[in-house]
Amino acid sequence: MTHTSLPFPDGFLWGASTAAHQIEGNNVNSDWWRKEHDPAAGIHEPSLDACDSYHRWEQDMDLLAHLGFTDYRFSVEWARVEPAPGAFSRAEIAHYRRMVDGALARGLRPMVTLHHFTVPQWFEDRGGWTADGAVELFARYVEHCAPIIADGVRHVCTINEPNMIAVMAGLAKRGEQGFPPAGLPFPDEETTHAVIAAHHAAVKAVRAANPDIQVGWTIANQVYQALPGAEEVTAAYRHPREDVFIEAARGDDFLGVQSYTRTKIGPDGPVPAPQDAERTLTQWEYYPAAVGHALRHTADVIGRDMPLIVTENGIATGDDSRRVDYYTGALAAVAAAIEDGIDVRGYLAWSALDNYEWGSYAATFGLIAVDRVTFERTPRPSAAWLGGLGRTRELPRDAS
Ligand code: BGC
Repeated sequence: MTHTSLPFPDGFLWGASTAAHQIEGNNVNSDWWRKEHDPAAGIHEPSLDACDSYHRWEQDMDLLAHLGFTDYRFSVEWARVEPAPGAFSRAEIAHYRRMVDGALARGLRPMVTLHHFTVPQWFEDRGGWTADGAVELFARYVEHCAPIIADGVRHVCTINEPNMIAVMAGLAKRGEQGFPPAGLPFPDEETTHAVIAAHHAAVKAVRAANPDIQVGWTIANQVYQALPGAEEVTAAYRHPREDVFIEAARGDDFLGVQSYTRTKIGPDGPVPAPQDAERTLTQWEYYPAAVGHALRHTADVIGRDMPLIVTENGIATGDDSRRVDYYTGALAAVAAAIEDGIDVRGYLAWSALDNYEWGSYAATFGLIAVDRVTFERTPRPSAAWLGGLGRTRELPRDAS
């Protein structure tokens, strides 16, 4: 088979991503844990032990390093670090510092996310992001994360998918809960302003910890595609859900791009994919080219001088050969974007492990399968293949 060399620049980040609540287990002080045990919230399945990565993180890192990855994105759990307002746990800070050291010792560069969807219950109880003082409280938490990130961490993400946070806040205000469907309902504007302010405050706190850290945030990109005649409707639809958050990254060191599928927009809004379109376990349309569109759109909005990192991209499937095909198509799209001059500095797959998908374990995104009872980890063939690409950088040429 003929191959094409992936045009990755030196120092390219090559890794996999996770998030604390989705893999650690027993994140009992978080808002999500409470929701998961509230029948009114209608959450299908609670996270419980998740992948028990709180105890098994060394094994996770061993596997990732062994598979050939050079970068690992994981998150720090605010609900553990600050279990009560102003009470910071030295032991939990030391735990996350050990993870940073453990990654470095294995040759994995840690990318640390400081907030990935969950907040402490006390923060939610006082009104969440839009309450008075919320931004200052987040900044104070970030300041207390200095011992975790100040030394040896090159990349820090302040807030994961702020646009999804604003969308989920909008849903909650309308009495709905949970993880929103692709396409996305309208985001709550007050939350949008609050998370942007929180991000800017967090960037300052991270730079105060160490000015050499590359700091940014990561945006969920829906790859809105206009049907003929719906170009203006699409731009108007996209702006509050995506572009506002991309624009707020001006002045950051990098911008994280996360995408999974596309959403077509017609004159009346989102148009579902045809009945016979291939769908993944999240019911999203199988569309590996999404990440290429996401990178190009992000560069168009923020400008080509902003370094971009694909901080999440992947597929929930029970058929690992579809996972390989998905990543093959996605990486071809990343390569084409780089060849067209877009400054892409890294690619981190979602996800390292079969994790808690915000309400259920059914949608398996993992490069590594996790037994729900024994927590045994089994890398899928896609994991060795993708990890190995970091070394060979040779992608099958018929990728599309
Ligand atoms: C989130 C992850 C989630 C993934 C797949 C992203 O929106 O950052 O937490 O698991 O998509 O649904």
